[in-house]
Amino acid sequence: MNRVLEVKNLNKNFQNQLIIKNLNFTMNEGDIVSIMGKSGVGKTTLLRILSGLEIPDSGEILINDKVVNGDKEFIEPYKRDIGFVFQKSVLWPHMTMKENISFAISDDYKSKMNEIASISGIEKIMNKYPNEVSEGEGKRVSIARAICSGAKILLMDEPYANLDDEIKDQLINMIKDIHSKTDISILMVSHDIEENKALSDKIFELINGELYEKKI
Ligand SMILES: Nc1ncnc2c1ncn2[C@@H]1O[C@H](COP(=O)(O)OP(=O)(O)OP(=O)(O)O)[C@@H](O)[C@H]1O
Ligand SMILES: [Mg+2]
Repeated sequence: MNRVLEVKNLNKNFQNQLIIKNLNFTMNEGDIVSIMGKSGVGKTTLLRILSGLEIPDSGEILINDKVVNGDKEFIEPYKRDIGFVFQKSVLWPHMTMKENISFAISDDYKSKMNEIASISGIEKIMNKYPNEVSEGEGKRVSIARAICSGAKILLMDEPYANLDDEIKDQLINMIKDIHSKTDISILMVSHDIEENKALSDKIFELINGELYEKKI
């Protein structure tokens, strides 16, 4: 099993408030892992550190065996092979859904865009602008865009927040479907234990800056 992500002795403080404490974590190719934890505990901060949007105080992060954060190393977010789905979908307002996806697409996915759009159930809205789609549709486009970027690791921050049960189920099925057709590894933050059980191989809880595996 290929190890895609390795985090060693990671630490992060904000204004003397300890957020991440000597955290160690690994993920293999194809894993789906969810992280739970109370509001303000540091879940988003952890994803931002992994993607390179936040710099840790100390520790090492390896992606596909390459050091992306270390004593002297820092690899920029866009070179990390990571796709990030933010809690609120961040789509370019002046671009249609199709243009939003095309903007980020990797060569490998150019021929697969229609297939991903079909799996994601977004074919009918490809020519709409972000202000013309619902929150759930925008979320699905954000996930499709992150996948089409060709990233091997997908980070998702509360992908089901503010969505009703039907849309949640559609999203879970979409993620399962895409996961079964690619070698993508998924790390997501979600408060929802039932959804986490439906999708994840492993569930962790972030408590006092450390990750603890929960029994499923
Ligand atoms: N740039 C920053 N400067 C100072 N403090 C910050 C910064 N970003 C986050 N924090 C603090 O770090 C802590 C963790 O924030 P984070 O957003 O990671 O929490 P979270 O677990 O994602 O919470 P939620 O479930 O509400 O999204 C909070 O106390 C927050 O106030
Ligand atoms: Mg958060």
